[in-house]
Amino acid sequence: MTTRNDTPALASGYTTRNTTQFNAALFLLSHLPIPPAATVLDIGCGPGNLAAHISTLTSPPAHVTGIDPSTDRIALATQTHAHNPLLTFHVGIAEDLSRFPDAAFDIVFVNSTLHWVADQARAIREFARVLKPGGRLGVSGGSGDFEAAHERIKARVLARAPYAAFEEVGGPHFLTRGEMNGLLDGGGFTGGREMWVNRIVVEREGPGEMVEWLDTSSSGQTYGGVPPGELRERCREEMRVEWEAEREADGWIRMGMELLVVVAVKGE
Ligand SMILES: C[S@@+](CC[C@H](N)C(=O)[O-])C[C@H]1O[C@@H](n2cnc3c(N)ncnc32)[C@H](O)[C@@H]1O
Repeated sequence: MTTRNDTPALASGYTTRNTTQFNAALFLLSHLPIPPAATVLDIGCGPGNLAAHISTLTSPPAHVTGIDPSTDRIALATQTHAHNPLLTFHVGIAEDLSRFPDAAFDIVFVNSTLHWVADQARAIREFARVLKPGGRLGVSGGSGDFEAAHERIKARVLARAPYAAFEEVGGPHFLTRGEMNGLLDGGGFTGGREMWVNRIVVEREGPGEMVEWLDTSSSGQTYGGVPPGELRERCREEMRVEWEAEREADGWIRMGMELLVVVAVKGE
């Protein structure tokens, strides 16, 4: 993902709209036990609410370090949790964890983020490097084996003129189960692994709310390469019209999604 489309408004809007991602994280955590006093690295930590949650799960508590390329989201995380000594936040990307030594963490936690990482193979190798032997990687994100309505609507609208002329840079890549296995094999996760499909429904009260959720979740990346301004507003309106057709009798939109959830162990 490029973070050039992110704004303070999208960053703070995400904190009020990320219940879908928070619940996805709870599913991941139900399969990823956090050891007492663990060191945890939260990749793509956003506003830091999941890092804070993880630190409360055990006694003694975990120390959680969050990284995220969005300066707006890290500013929010740092400000919100300034007085919590268990939490540390840095601007950074999954592909370059060079600020951390080898074998520094018990757990690497990646929720709703890996599909935004441009070089996923490099990121997985970095996750293995910073994990202790026997440490666990937990990942939950959109599955490449399932196409959700938001992907169909985005593709349909961006195929139209004039939007088709603007190439998308940094769009999401949702991993299939086969691709995920290939990356974990290549990255050194030889200590065993389990995968699940988490079937969820994203419910929003109409197209406006659905578009807002997509805007804040994608840090403004819903519109491909269409530049901010009047053209992007037109594109956004065309997507809103497409979502109208998805309304159910009670006016709500319910979008089915499949999340690919993985816990992989670094070999001893
Ligand atoms: C949908 S949000 C998920 C935030 C949080 N993990 C959660 O579940 O609520 C995706 C996050 O991934 C971050 N991100 C995008 N590209 C990244 C990269 N290359 N490395 C790490 N994080 C990235 C974004 O800035 C954004 O905060």
